Amino acid sequence: MPPTMRAVDIRNGTGPATSLFINSDTPMPSAGPGEALVKIKAFGLNRMDLLQREGRYPVPPQAPKTLGVEFSGVVQGIGEEGGDENGERGEEEEGFKVGDEVFGLAYGGAYAEYIAVSTQMLLHKPPELSWEEAAGIPETWITATQALYLIGSFTPGKTVLWHAGASAVSIAGIQLSKADHAGAIYVTAGSDEKIKFCVEELGATAGVLLSLLFTLPLPQIPTPPMTINPPPRPSPLPFSPLTPPPPPTGFNYNTQNWSTEILTATNGKGIDIIIDFIGAAYFEPNLHTAAPDATIVHLGALSGFNLPAGTSLAPFIAKRLRFEGSSLRSRPLAYQARLRDHLWKHTLPRIRGGGGGGEEGGKGREEGGKEGGKEGGKGREGGYRVLVERVFDWGDVVEAHELLESNRTRGKVVCRVG
Ligand SMILES: NC(=O)c1ccc[n+]([C@@H]2O[C@H](COP(=O)([O-])OP(=O)(O)OC[C@H]3O[C@@H](n4cnc5c(N)ncnc54)[C@H](OP(=O)(O)O)[C@@H]3O)[C@@H](O)[C@H]2O)c1
Repeated sequence: MPPTMRAVDIRNGTGPATSLFINSDTPMPSAGPGEALVKIKAFGLNRMDLLQREGRYPVPPQAPKTLGVEFSGVVQGIGEEGGDENGERGEEEEGFKVGDEVFGLAYGGAYAEYIAVSTQMLLHKPPELSWEEAAGIPETWITATQALYLIGSFTPGKTVLWHAGASAVSIAGIQLSKADHAGAIYVTAGSDEKIKFCVEELGATAGVLLSLLFTLPLPQIPTPPMTINPPPRPSPLPFSPLTPPPPPTGFNYNTQNWSTEILTATNGKGIDIIIDFIGAAYFEPNLHTAAPDATIVHLGALSGFNLPAGTSLAPFIAKRLRFEGSSLRSRPLAYQARLRDHLWKHTLPRIRGGGGGGEEGGKGREEGGKEGGKEGGKGREGGYRVLVERVFDWGDVVEAHELLESNRTRGKVVCRVG
């Protein structure tokens, strides 16, 4: 292999989108023990890439300086066998060899021609998924899975609130919640168009209008019996079928007091699991909206980290709430490998078409982009939808970052490496 390759770099180390450029003098990575060298076909963009580009993200020490945590491509070389630092390994997906078409998660380095990554982070790419679709799956679907099941302790019948409902993570999360029979799925978003999308395109019943939301019959969720000891946390990743859930419902945070309206919609009961990316601005409303014994999963702080003066902690004790933060990227390899296994075993079959929620595979939503927007999704029947908002040539990575920053997306932004 040549000593250098092309990779996206940042002029002066950090800066705005316009400081991104392709640096053809980037050192070529090599596959260490337990790793594969992958020639990248496409990489997915994530919100954290924007923060990292600006020097505002706590990058884990093992991450290369190049941006990017998810990719698809072809295996070019395999290093020696090896486990992670504790000798633990994922178990479900093994046997990678040169020439395999793969996709996967990385600690960093995916905005490049080549990446060296643990084989425990890799999955074989199903032929029916495009390179662009596959590149946009790992980070969002694994994050949504981790938030809902591992941290949120989801069980069928629980109500779930996905903030930023049309974000890539919530698009995955709404579909997971629905397929596993949430009692009700609520979303907030910044526009009626996004609410409509979450309700009509990701929900069980099309055509639910915002003005009709509060006339919908609401599910009767049994109240857990009073106990002196806290209820035991269910084992992670439960997947048992129950009756079909009601349609997801949503709230436009620009025009509605979503907290009050969700409490009205739930007859004052509130929400069992709240997945929050917004942080400071939603901290107190989340406490207000939470049901007794609820869990609030804190994954991001799009509105900031510092709470307003006078914020009250009272609901924590009064309602026995749990507030838990998480960061997928900071997790050890063995943890990520188990989530990779879960993606392989439980989620990918449904993405490939096995009975899940939506009616069709995701379609690139917008026309345009030099390499075309109509890329992701091929109309698979009855499975989870992988929604690719737009595909760019990686030479247009500046435009790709600017699109993600605009908050106009409803799904993944992906770059094709040429
Ligand atoms: N902790 C973890 O392990 C982890 C892993 C992956 C992602 N994340 C986080 O998850 C979040 C979603 O990621 P993503 O890649 O799915 O994002 P995305 O597709 O880019 O969507 C983000 C959406 O958030 C909304 N938003 C932006 N600023 C907001 C604000 N101040 N208040 C309310 N809503 C705001 C916008 O939609 P509207 O039009 O609705 O405002 C925007 O489109 C990000 O915060 C990301 O950092 C965390």
